[in-house]
Amino acid sequence: MPLTPVIRFGDARCELREGESVLDGLLRQGVPVAHACRAGSCGSCMLRAVEGEIPAAAQAGLKDSWKAGGYFLACICRPEGPLTVAEAGSDARVAATISSLGKLAADVLRVGLTCTAQFPYRAGQYLTLIRDSGLARSYSIASLPEEAELELHVRLIPGGRMSGWLAHEARLGDKVVLQGPSGECFYVSGREDQPVVLIGTGTGLAPLRGIVRDALRAGHRGPLRLFHGARTVDGLYLREELAALAAAHANFTYVPTVLDGDGAAGVDVGPIDRIVAGQLPGLGGWRGFVCGDPALVQNLKRKLFLSGMALNDICADAFLPAAL
Ligand SMILES: Cc1cc2nc3c(=O)[nH]c(=O)nc-3n(C[C@H](O)[C@H](O)[C@H](O)COP(=O)(O)OP(=O)(O)OC[C@H]3O[C@@H](n4cnc5c(N)ncnc54)[C@H](O)[C@@H]3O)c2cc1C
Ligand code: FES
Repeated sequence: MPLTPVIRFGDARCELREGESVLDGLLRQGVPVAHACRAGSCGSCMLRAVEGEIPAAAQAGLKDSWKAGGYFLACICRPEGPLTVAEAGSDARVAATISSLGKLAADVLRVGLTCTAQFPYRAGQYLTLIRDSGLARSYSIASLPEEAELELHVRLIPGGRMSGWLAHEARLGDKVVLQGPSGECFYVSGREDQPVVLIGTGTGLAPLRGIVRDALRAGHRGPLRLFHGARTVDGLYLREELAALAAAHANFTYVPTVLDGDGAAGVDVGPIDRIVAGQLPGLGGWRGFVCGDPALVQNLKRKLFLSGMALNDICADAFLPAAL
């Protein structure tokens, strides 16, 4: 009979039940491990193995230096033997302060963060924001690495624990911890003439804003078409900034879209996937970035592929909500 794997974290010791993940076992013992999606997608529950064998599946999607450093995702880690684990170290976490807070739309917050140490990232990647209470949520990065503040766009969810705290209680100077960065949704130089389509609804715009500006700065020459969708015109935040960027760069087109209403000048009305398909019927040779609502991301990935885009040219980040 296989032995029950024992997990050690500081002074805590936990015997995993059959099929239980390291995260579930530690939480059952009352160990406060940061977590959100519980599905291996958001990176929040990343821990470091100090001793013991980590199953390869628990390191899926982590960058090579983290794999080599023993990092793994606790929510999808079901080890066969004993493990001694610790919180992520300074190579994956940095302290930061909230340096600005504002509104971009009625239900979209702009959160500016200043890090106390280097936090190297690529525009479009995401991080895990951890409050002093231990609550963790992932957010895409809307800024460029050289900008003074790291910028997040946070949708205010009714009853949302992190977004509600940011909207109603957080103050300038409050301290948080950033873990990451993670994700493969970023611009890669080398194919400067390739046409690129970027599609997002709501705060799915955050990573796309970073990626577009990164591509333009890198001298991308091919067409860059950004489709941003909202339910109504009020949700189309950063319209002026994006229209100005389009005016300054002949190869960049900004297409604001809304689901409801008769639209306004320059706004397309209808489901964003149909608007994209109407304007770009064939996507062979294109690269695509899709971010935001998980169902929409799934649907668009399928449609981009069916329109001729190669699978390895599709980069997607689904904003999976935290599991309760
Ligand atoms: C890789 C990644 C990147 C992300 N990037 C961003 C980003 O840039 N901006 C951003 O705003 N969010 C982003 N998210 C989502 C974010 O991590 C949180 O899930 C979200 O902010 C809600 O957290 P909360 O604590 O405010 O709400 P919670 O307390 O987690 O949720 C409160 C209630 O609302 C429900 N709920 C949660 N999310 C939604 C939703 N979208 N629609 C309807 N009901 C919901 C929950 O099921 C729960 O019942 C990202 C998620 C991932 C995995
Ligand atoms: S990756 Fe483990 S909680 Fe999200």
